[in-house]
Order: sequence, then C-alpha cells, then structure tokens
Amino acid sequence: MSSKVFQPIKEGKVREVYDNGDSLIIVATDRISAFDHILKNKVTKKGAILTQMSKFWFDLTKDIVPNHMISVDVKDMPEFFQEERFDGNSMMCKKLEMLPIECIVRGYITGSGWESYKENGTVCGIKLPEGLQESDKLPEPIFTPSTKAEIGLHDENISFERCREILEKEYPGKGASYAEQIKDYTIALYKKCAEYALTKGIIIADTKFEFGLDENGNVVLGDEMLTPDSSRFWSLEGYKPGQGQPSFDKQFVRDWLKANPDSDYLLPDDVIEKTVNKYKEAYELLTGKKFA
Ligand SMILES: Nc1ncnc2c1ncn2[C@@H]1O[C@H](COP(=O)(O)OP(=O)(O)O)[C@@H](O)[C@H]1O
Ligand SMILES: [Mg+2]
Repeated sequence: MSSKVFQPIKEGKVREVYDNGDSLIIVATDRISAFDHILKNKVTKKGAILTQMSKFWFDLTKDIVPNHMISVDVKDMPEFFQEERFDGNSMMCKKLEMLPIECIVRGYITGSGWESYKENGTVCGIKLPEGLQESDKLPEPIFTPSTKAEIGLHDENISFERCREILEKEYPGKGASYAEQIKDYTIALYKKCAEYALTKGIIIADTKFEFGLDENGNVVLGDEMLTPDSSRFWSLEGYKPGQGQPSFDKQFVRDWLKANPDSDYLLPDDVIEKTVNKYKEAYELLTGKKFA
C-alpha cells in the first residue's frame, strides 16, 4: 500500500500550505523571521505553539463568525501528515476563496498607523483625536484595511471606501455587503479578544484577519488568528505610552540583531531559548493551559 505524497502548493517565510481537495493543511514551521529575513535558527515548537494559539481563538470566537478550522489533530488528516514533524503544528482548514483585503484592526496607535498619524492626523482616511502619543490606546478600535501586495512589495493601506470599491469590482452587487461584513466582524473579533487578553496581562495592540467565501458565498474567517506573527502583543505590565513598545515575542531577537549587524542572521542559543520561552509564556497566559 502506498499513501499519497504531498508537496506544498505554497511555501511562505514561516508557513507551508498543502492542498487536500476541499481542504487545505496549513503547517506552521519553526522558522522565525525578523526585519523581513528568515533567521538561520529554528525556534523549537514555535509552529505548534502558534497553531494551538490560533485554535484557541477560533474556538473562542466561533459564535461571532464561522471560521475555516476543521481539525488540528493529525489523525483526521491524510496518512502523509501522521508524522512527528506535522504533529501539533498543522491545521486542516476548509478551502475558501480568499477576499483580496487584509483586515487590519488597531486598538493602539503604532507602526505604520503612527507614521501616518504624525504626518496628517489620520490612518486610512480615519481622523483621529489630536495630541495622541505613540502607543496610546485609541478611543475606539479602527478598521484600517490594506491590499495584499504582490511578492516583494509592501502592503498598501487603503480607505474603507477603496476596500468597498475593490470588492464591488470583483463581486458586482455583493462587494459592498462583503465590505460591511468584514469590517464589522473584524471589529467585533478584536473587541472580544483584546478585552479577554487584557485580563491575562497581554495588550493586543493590533492584528490582521483574512476572510474568504465558502461554497455558498458566506463570509468565513480564514488564515491564522491572533498569533504574535499576525499581531502586535505587548506586555501590560511594561506598557508605557510615549514610545515604541518591545514586541512580546521577538524583543530579544531584534535587540540582538541590532547589536550584532554582522551576524548573518545566525543567533546564539540563549537568545533562541529566551524567545521560545516568550512564545510559551504568551500561550500559557492566554489559554490558561500549560504548553504540552
Ligand atoms: N481557508 C483558506 N482557503 C484558501 N486560502 C487560505 C485559507 N486560509 C489562508 N489562506 C491563504 O493561505 C496563504 C498562507 O500563506 P502565508 O504563509 O501566510 O503567505 P502570504 O501571507 O505571504 O501569502 C495566504 O495566501 C492566505 O491568504
Ligand atoms: Mg499570510
């Protein structure tokens, strides 16, 4: 008996995607990127921690919006995946037709949002109160979509009107409704999860969701959800507006790379060890479970 051999249909910086007919198997590897480079080190168990974190959020929010998760148990997947290297870090998902919008939501002003605010007081066409400092909490979370850039280009921030136009062009007669739905879902998901995370000592400053359509044209939440790779997590304890905040997971990596510009992206073991522990800490704080 021979079992089917799978090749990834897509290999990103960190994740691999396998096609399984009506479903996809999305595998989070132990690769880590910083400053747009893949590091030479592997962060042991990072992939599993991030996949289990997504699972936690998908379960927590399935009453707000249906999501693509089918299973994170390799026993439910084709034989090819019943192997140590896929165990815990793979998610079988319903295949969707992805909408060409990155649904970013910001509860705090930082990153490209802060840059834009300093320039003209707005983010994605949304006027914000005067006098905000870097990393301040916003009065209300804001939906700041961007287009998915072609490889090598940076994503482009767009207004909600532009988002509606893009979807209306692709889905005549339906785009406006899709735009309203993904905006409302994005804000509702962020509110619930950010409030929850705050009770666990973690600020979710901003995050990105991706939605797609199922076979009946319903909007479904896809991709990964609220991992440190798709979000900015800050420690509540160390939060200090008026400056940039250290990233919860990659602070040691970034600090070390800045101090060692000639390292060629190979880091010492102790920096990697500290980084693994930050991922575990985030998982354990958020889920209240020990990472096994
Ligand atoms: N349920 C799904 N159906 C189809 N495509 C999906 C689904 N969930 C996520 N995707 C897509 O899978 C890809 C995951 O690849 P990723 O490693 O994030 O690379 P990138 O974001 O650079 O495209 C993304 O293009 C994402 O839009
Ligand atoms: Mg992606």
